Amino acid sequence: MKLVLIGYMASGKSAVGVELAKELSLNFIDLDNYIEQKEQKTIAEIFKDNGEIYFRKIESDCLNELLSEKNDIVLSLGGGTPCYGNNMDTILKNSKSIYLRTGIATICSRLLNETNKRPLVSEISTEKLPEFIAKHLFERRFFYEKSNHVIDTDQKSVEDLVKHILEF
Ligand code: S3P
Repeated sequence: MKLVLIGYMASGKSAVGVELAKELSLNFIDLDNYIEQKEQKTIAEIFKDNGEIYFRKIESDCLNELLSEKNDIVLSLGGGTPCYGNNMDTILKNSKSIYLRTGIATICSRLLNETNKRPLVSEISTEKLPEFIAKHLFERRFFYEKSNHVIDTDQKSVEDLVKHILEF
């Protein structure tokens, strides 16, 4: 089985994915890392040199590639992955998906500590960040909530979340 972790930036997809894969003795793949290795550039460099449309195409190609392989994996996506093209349909067809639903305040405080790594929010001022995230989440929720399972992550540790996913 392929398990796919979905959620907004800084919702803990990779942290949970690593631990979940260990518990299940499966390989863990982070889609952003996979893209970076393929392109030999960081995500920020891809956005800067080639633009977002190019990034979304590569992201979609890599998603299709990983989900069409035979191997079972735990795969954590980028925050935007389910929201472009046919990606969410591909995810639903080829995996069990889990949406890690995280509140705006939690996302905001995490992103404020590391904005320079995330091209979509690196230009946004601290004051404008909550409004930006609220709008973005409003647009993206429609895709995220199609997942097979939704878990609220606020106030939960990585261990709690892994335990919950294993029960499901
Ligand atoms: C993005 C999220 C990022 C990365 C890219 C775009 C998004 O991944 O794919 O910067 O559109 O939300 P994380 O969710 O791992 O930060």
